[in-house]
Amino acid sequence: MPKKLMAANWKMFKTWEEARQTARELVVGVRNDLPPDREVLILPPFTALRGVSEMLVQQESFFLGGQNFYPADQGAFTGEISPDQLLDAGCTHALVGHSERRHVLGEQDDFLAFKVSFGLERGLRIIFCVGETLQERKAAQVEQVLTRQLVQGLAKVPGDTGPGELAAAYEPVWAIGTGQTAGTEDIQEAHDFVRAKLSEMFIHGREMRILYGGSVKPGNTPSIIALDNVDGVLVGGSSLNAETFSRIVLA
Ligand code: PGA
Repeated sequence: MPKKLMAANWKMFKTWEEARQTARELVVGVRNDLPPDREVLILPPFTALRGVSEMLVQQESFFLGGQNFYPADQGAFTGEISPDQLLDAGCTHALVGHSERRHVLGEQDDFLAFKVSFGLERGLRIIFCVGETLQERKAAQVEQVLTRQLVQGLAKVPGDTGPGELAAAYEPVWAIGTGQTAGTEDIQEAHDFVRAKLSEMFIHGREMRILYGGSVKPGNTPSIIALDNVDGVLVGGSSLNAETFSRIVLA
């Protein structure tokens, strides 16, 4: 059984000092009670990566990740950040394909495919996000959308990629930041489907982690995390406060 990954996506929130303070409180709040089968990942804004990484020194089960990167080593890509720059700031992980990158920033499946393979080659552990919109769910297209996102987005990833290198996150777009969590039956169905796809595509697909994201809160975490094929959570709004996120991590 892989360890459950409890991930905090701080998006475009927090100054350098606020991020350090939250990370400090989080470490103090959970380190003595963290079950051996849990890991914590913090995804701060880029400006706070280095500051937060200093808070995580020698904290064995805590990891740092980037919310995004550009698939090039260096160059004239104004406003972008490279995998090497993330690694240099202390990151081990990075998100690819978050719904806000897909829907607000317009990132397409073929570009995401390039990002995933590039990030993996540079040594980042990738969490690849997928999920349907409300319109797609209403049109009964969930499996079709997940298939397209997984098959196209992971098309360039070698079939023997290690289980620790690649994880998926199922985040129904209509549940992100809306307070409307998917029901446990919907989550179970989607996670079983993602598991089946990963198992088809990768030798280690059965051991890769699949996180759930979308309005995760302390109150709904126990029932979500207990489901089969749910190997962690990706939390936005409820991860911004250290005390609230501590309750999720320990739920
Ligand atoms: P939320 O965000 O927890 O605020 O719904 C989740 C995410 O975007 O990863």
